[in-house]
Amino acid sequence: MLNNFNEISIDPKFANCLDCGHQAKYSPTLAICPVCSSQWLEAGYDYSRIRSRLPSLLVGRPFNLWRYRELLPIKEHNHSLLMGEGGTPLIRAHNLGMMLGCPNIFIKDERQGPTASFKDRQAAVSIAALKEAGIIEVVLASTGNVAIAYSAYAARAGIRLWAFLTSLVPAEKMREVALYGTQVVKVTSSYDQTKKVAEEFAHQRGLYLERGSRSIPSVEAMKTIAFEVCEQLAEIDIHSEGSQQSSNSSELTNEAMVRGRFLAPDWYFQAVSGGLGPLGVSKGFRELHKMALIDHVPAIAGIQAEGCSPMVQAWKEDRDTAQPVASPRTHITTLSTGDPGRTYKLLRQQMKSGSGGTFESVSDEEAFRAMHILAKMEGISVEPAAAVAFAGLIKLVRSGMIGSNEVIVVNCSGHTMPIEPVILGERWARNITLSASEVDTPQEGLLGALSKVTDDRFPHVLVVDDTEEARRLIRRVLQAQGNYSIMEAENGRLAIDIARRELPDLVILDLMMPELDGFEVLDTLKADPNTAPIPVIVVTAKELTQDEKRRLDGQISILMQRGEFLSDELLEEVKALIE
Ligand SMILES: Cc1ncc(COP(=O)(O)O)c(C=O)c1O
Ligand SMILES: [Zn+2]
Repeated sequence: MLNNFNEISIDPKFANCLDCGHQAKYSPTLAICPVCSSQWLEAGYDYSRIRSRLPSLLVGRPFNLWRYRELLPIKEHNHSLLMGEGGTPLIRAHNLGMMLGCPNIFIKDERQGPTASFKDRQAAVSIAALKEAGIIEVVLASTGNVAIAYSAYAARAGIRLWAFLTSLVPAEKMREVALYGTQVVKVTSSYDQTKKVAEEFAHQRGLYLERGSRSIPSVEAMKTIAFEVCEQLAEIDIHSEGSQQSSNSSELTNEAMVRGRFLAPDWYFQAVSGGLGPLGVSKGFRELHKMALIDHVPAIAGIQAEGCSPMVQAWKEDRDTAQPVASPRTHITTLSTGDPGRTYKLLRQQMKSGSGGTFESVSDEEAFRAMHILAKMEGISVEPAAAVAFAGLIKLVRSGMIGSNEVIVVNCSGHTMPIEPVILGERWARNITLSASEVDTPQEGLLGALSKVTDDRFPHVLVVDDTEEARRLIRRVLQAQGNYSIMEAENGRLAIDIARRELPDLVILDLMMPELDGFEVLDTLKADPNTAPIPVIVVTAKELTQDEKRRLDGQISILMQRGEFLSDELLEEVKALIE
């Protein structure tokens, strides 16, 4: 569509050289600085002009990434390619927040893009820019999701795509790429080597190569996450209760309306491979800050898989260059960039220059555990790469680096494939096999088979607490991190009845309850030879007196203060006691 009254002429856009400072006119085909041949160019815009028009431009535009088109490297808004890219929901993580003691955790749900990962933004903007420039054939290397996203948009745009994939990419992802008609080249080697093969192929054939952090449209596309998040947080109005923003909007000046439109989080979390996402997202935050639309630039937390964490290593050793990891050791192939090159240096510079941030790594097991937590607590199923960001959040909150009142946004970066067997283990389903005779008498056969479907596969835990909230929290924490069959009792009398009847594998007991308190429940259970062997974990909100402690002595397995029971130790203890 051509510019109309609701568009401003999108030129001029610039490509600024990060090495010599030369400012060139932007073009998608400009790969190197015309003066010093550097490959590191950064897009620049006429910010003051855009700022003065932005509020009126945004009003009435649909909530997708093209609403920020004046800040994207395209000339015209090409409607024929649109598939609903960007504009993903920002969801408050109530239960995860409750578990971690941080009420302001928000999930940017990038699974909801057209191909189910945040790479849709990169593909949508890049393909639009390339189409505009008349490019008809493109080469890329990918750990899976970039190839899937590009394949979809390239198919739509009629651009021929070559995707070089490391052979470690799960077969499901490779087939998805092929379905779109992309030319798939499987390279039996690491992702870093695969990139080199793709680069050489593009060079030999003179084809456009997607170069990640060095491709202007790719970096620019990721900015839109920052723009959207700040608009969405302002809308949610986290700090609102009674603040200016809820006052009569007709009294607000144009300036206040512009400012009120954006609110920056304190932290942006993302799982990191090559680092394109954080590079682009932080540029987005910095642009908003430059235009005085937000009052600070958020800290970035880049989380890597332990088996391929060159940025984390360098960060912890305070080096500005990352030592490449030659052979990544992680199941999470999506995050297997061994050599982040200059992207790490750029991210580190930004983090050190005031806005803050950190790099952290998590093990594959921690990521898989975070997958369970997120699915069971928030109803959000993600692929392992996305779970890495959440595992990092859990780790950094527990380490004390993140304060309880901070506003945290986690990029829920994707879910482009089914759950792999390694994540669920073997006992994830109940089996019913009907014999011939059972099939002959369907009614009885079915009833017989169904009666075998019990919950006896998992250990039984009885949670005794008079407050529903506390019971629910313990239930969630246990269920999110393992498979337990949980029973609840809201008072001491009921607890004793259930314990006698069901003989659970473990009792988690509150002490302060009206009528029959935890001490009496414990005495009763321990006096009965049937229930005496059941291990008991006592959870209490109050400081115990010496006398009370003596009453518990020898009777219980552990004593935990409330709040503490979210720690790994409790889960380790539960597992140890049950086994
Ligand atoms: C689901 C998912 N999360 C995170 C990442 C890491 O992205 P980045 O390129 O920003 O390091 C990727 C990269 O492909 C991904 O597909
Ligand atoms: Zn230059």
